[in-house]
Amino acid sequence: MTTIDLPQAENGLHGMLTVPGDKSISHRSIMLGAISHGTTVVDHFLSSDDCLHTIAAFKALGVEINIDEDQVTIEGKGGFQNFTKPNQPLDMGNSGTSTRLLLGLLANQPFDIEMFGDDSLSKRPLKRVIDPLTAMGAKVTATADNFLPLTLHANDELVGIDYKIPVASAQVKSALIWAGLQANNNSHLTEKLVTRDHTEQMIRQFGGRVKQAGLDIEVEPQSDFQSQHITVPGDISSAAFFIVAAICVPNSQVTLKQVGLNPTRIGILTALDKMGAKYEITNRSNTAEAIGDLTIRSQNIHALNLGAEDIPALVDELPLVALAATQATGTTIISGAEELRVKETDRIKTVTAELKKFGAKIEERPDGFVIEGKTQLHSPDVAVDSHGDHRIGMMLAIANLIAAGAGKLENAEAINVSYPEFWQDLDQLR
Ligand code: S3P
Repeated sequence: MTTIDLPQAENGLHGMLTVPGDKSISHRSIMLGAISHGTTVVDHFLSSDDCLHTIAAFKALGVEINIDEDQVTIEGKGGFQNFTKPNQPLDMGNSGTSTRLLLGLLANQPFDIEMFGDDSLSKRPLKRVIDPLTAMGAKVTATADNFLPLTLHANDELVGIDYKIPVASAQVKSALIWAGLQANNNSHLTEKLVTRDHTEQMIRQFGGRVKQAGLDIEVEPQSDFQSQHITVPGDISSAAFFIVAAICVPNSQVTLKQVGLNPTRIGILTALDKMGAKYEITNRSNTAEAIGDLTIRSQNIHALNLGAEDIPALVDELPLVALAATQATGTTIISGAEELRVKETDRIKTVTAELKKFGAKIEERPDGFVIEGKTQLHSPDVAVDSHGDHRIGMMLAIANLIAAGAGKLENAEAINVSYPEFWQDLDQLR
C-alpha cells in the first residue's frame, strides 16, 4: 500500500496535455491484432496495468507482441483457431474488460484455459457473460457465485444466439460479438441501452462486418480480419479528470489534445452541457473513432439530473460528476446508476464515503447519489483512500486540488490500472 501527499495547484491548472490512449480501444487493438492476418501496429497504446494483462494473456496464447514505449506490434494469428495452449493460468489482474472480452474470444479453443484475477476482480459478476456464452455452447466452470477463478473448457462448436442483453454493458456485448464471430450461424443481440461501440468500430476497421441499428446488432460468423496501423485516441475517461479540475479549480485553462470523442463515450460532455459549462472543441477529425482538442476553463456550474438512459455514455466518469456536483449550485440527483456497485469497488459507497471526508453533502441511494452544492471542500486531516480503485484515487486527487489544502491518499498505486502517468501529467498542468 502506497500513501502519498496529494499535490496542490495554488495558481490553477494551465497548459496543454495529450492524455494516454483509450483503455477500451487499447484492449481491443490487441484482440483484433491477435486474430488478424499480418502485423498490426498500434500507436499511442495505453501501457497501463489493465492493458498489459491483455497483452500478457495473448503472449501466453502464443501471440508475438512487442512493446516499444507507446507503440505495440502484434503478429496476428490469422483467425481464432491458431493459438497455443497457455502453460499456466491467465492472470487478469484487476481487469474486467480483459476477463469478460476474453471469455467470448476464447470460448471455442481446443484446450482448457484457466483464468484468475485480483481480490476485487474475483468479486465482480461474470454470470452476465457466462450465461449467454453457455447458451452458445461455451463450457465454463467458475465458482458457485460465477466469479473468478474459472476454467474455460476445450470446445469445438458455438451456435449463434438471439439475445436481449439484460444489462447495459459493452463488455457483455463485446464478449458475445467475439463468440458470435466464431459461431455456426448469425447472432442477433439487443442492447438495453446503447453502450460504447469500440468493438464494432474496430471490427469494421479491420475489414470485418457487423450490422448495428439502434439497439440491435447482427453478428455474422467471420474470421478474415486484415492487420492495420492504428492510433489510439486519448482516453476521454482520463481527460475527464482534468476537465473537471479545470472547471472547479479557480484560474485554470487547460487544452487536452486528441481526445477520443466517439459519440457513445461523450456523456461527460453532455453532462457538463447540462451543468451550463462551456468548452471548445477544435481540430476535430471524424476518423473511425472521432477525436478533437478540448479547451476548458474555470467557471460556475449548476446542478443536473442524470437517469438510467444517461449512464452508459459516462459510466466511468460518474465519480467525477459527483465531485463536480459538489461545486455546482443546487441539488444533483443521479439515478439508474446501480452498475456502479459492481465496478472495481462499489463506487456508490466509495465515492460517498470519501467525498464526505472533504465535507461534501452527498448521500448514497441504491442506484446513485443526491448531492447538494455548492460546498466549500476542505482537505481532510485523515488520509483519503482509493480502496484499490484507480478512478476513485484520481477523483480524490482532483477533489483535494479543489479543496486546496494538504491531503494524503492511501492505496495510490491503484492509479496504474488505467493512468500510470497521471501524476506527471498533473504536474505538467500545475
Ligand atoms: C468497458 C465497458 C464498461 C466500462 C469499462 C470498460 C469496455 O464496463 O465501465 O471501464 O471497455 O467495454 P461495462 O461494460 O461493464 O459497463
